[in-house]
Amino acid sequence: MEENKNTAKEGAAPVPEEHHGGKFMAGRRAFLGAFAGCVGALGAGLVGVPLLASFTPVQRGKPEPAIMNLGDIPVGSSEQGVYAGYSFIVFNRKSGIECISLKCTHLGCTVKWEPAKKIFKCPCHDGWYDEHGINKGGPPPAPLEKLDYKIAGDKLIVGGA
Ligand code: FES
Repeated sequence: MEENKNTAKEGAAPVPEEHHGGKFMAGRRAFLGAFAGCVGALGAGLVGVPLLASFTPVQRGKPEPAIMNLGDIPVGSSEQGVYAGYSFIVFNRKSGIECISLKCTHLGCTVKWEPAKKIFKCPCHDGWYDEHGINKGGPPPAPLEKLDYKIAGDKLIVGGA
């Protein structure tokens, strides 16, 4: 007489192979494993593709220049504007025009011009720059960016020059 391998005790009822695994369960496990793998891959794709896309710059081409009226910036004054999504300040000094980005070179906070002290102060980590945007204290590793400009008639065109 052939002995049932699934019998736990002698005299106990034989347990069908399907209840302990066997080919049916092995096939089912393989299917569920493959299904879980597909769902995981799909989820990784749904999350990963937009995540990777977010690392590419949104801006396509050159940003539009900022156009200002020179008449609004007499010698000895300053005026703020926005170029490429960041604030900047234009000084009309006796020595000429100077356009300085207000984006801190440490972590990108917007620095504030303090005319009484003639410095740019960053509110984030106490970095500061002199009146020409040269980094003088705190964590900023480099001067504030100088923006290109050109004069066309009575207009000052900042960026895109
Ligand atoms: S972001 Fe300006 S000092 Fe850190």
